[in-house]
Amino acid sequence: MDIVRIYLSFLIAISLLNFTCVADVPGIYFDRIITYVLGSTDYEDAINDSYLSYLSKQGILLKHAHGIWHPSQPNYIAMICASKSGMLTDFSQDLKGPSLPESLEKRGITWKAYIENYPGDGYKADVSDDKLYVRKHNPFISMNNIRNNLTLVSKIVSSTQLKNDLEKDEAPQYIFYVPNINNNGEKTNLTVASNYLKNEFIPLIQHLLTSTKTLLVITFDEASTYLDFNLADFNHIYTTLIGPNVLRSFIHEDETRYSHFSWVPTIEANWNLSSFGNGADTDSTPLDFNLFA
Ligand SMILES: *[C@@H]1O[C@H](CO)[C@@H](O)[C@H](O)[C@H]1NC(C)=O
Ligand SMILES: *[C@@H]1O[C@H](CO)[C@@H](O)[C@H](O)[C@H]1NC(C)=O
Ligand SMILES: *[C@@H]1O[C@H](CO)[C@@H](O)[C@H](O)[C@H]1NC(C)=O
Ligand SMILES: *[C@@H]1O[C@H](CO)[C@@H](O)[C@H](O)[C@H]1NC(C)=O
Repeated sequence: MDIVRIYLSFLIAISLLNFTCVADVPGIYFDRIITYVLGSTDYEDAINDSYLSYLSKQGILLKHAHGIWHPSQPNYIAMICASKSGMLTDFSQDLKGPSLPESLEKRGITWKAYIENYPGDGYKADVSDDKLYVRKHNPFISMNNIRNNLTLVSKIVSSTQLKNDLEKDEAPQYIFYVPNINNNGEKTNLTVASNYLKNEFIPLIQHLLTSTKTLLVITFDEASTYLDFNLADFNHIYTTLIGPNVLRSFIHEDETRYSHFSWVPTIEANWNLSSFGNGADTDSTPLDFNLFA
């Protein structure tokens, strides 16, 4: 009798544990956001790529999205800090923040950065031994509050972990995915990058798009032409939103001007996160929420 009771309470404990592990915090517009970042390419070249053009027609093309700086690293920082946070170059620099993962943690929203060829274990160096991972494309490791916290730094993982997490039905609510310097096009070309997106990444996460309230953001860190005298369109990049369950299906293009500073305030509004307190996120334009269903 006692054995049975103990066994039953054990089962109940396990199921409660499972529940608390996988419970998603519902968002106003989406319950999950996946950001996928390709490397330095002009808008005109990206929209001419047949797959990227196809994707833009499946979702909403942001026609006036912009990188915020050159070279690439400050653009990644902007995506999680809503500011450059003092980062102006591609050199490694340790930053005080604040950054989005801390706000997500406070609300119990799961997150992970999946960085291709990242060696793991809080790897801090500029480049991996295989030369395919570069720290300048991993903004999370530059944040002191993440790098110096064992719990948080363990949420920066190699992209191979995504498959395991999806198989276990443990996809985090905030996913930031960075392909390596070959698969993001930087050391190869846009065709290689768009083939990787099409053949490797999209098939992996496809079921999330159709079965859950997931928003996928396909964007570029910066444009490749940065000595552009047409300043109004300086650093113009391709960005498409995909999410059949969360976007208004009849809108396919948006004319509003956005930048990488737009992502943090969008995510804060979605989950009602408190603002950073440094003004950066409150000063930045979030996505137009009329784009959402
Ligand atoms: C884009 O494609 C069109 C038609 O194929 C071509 O005329 C145009 O020059 C291309 N633009 C760029 C920037 O490659
Ligand atoms: C690490 O981060 C977690 C989650 O935000 C927090 O609860 C914990 O206090 C942090 N640990 C240290 C040593 O700062
Ligand atoms: C892109 O790179 C691949 C692999 O090196 C090559 O086969 C292809 O011809 C290149 N495409 C262009 C447009 O340069
Ligand atoms: C958002 O959070 C604030 C406190 O930070 C709270 O007062 C407000 O009721 C929340 N709004 C919603 C819709 O949950």
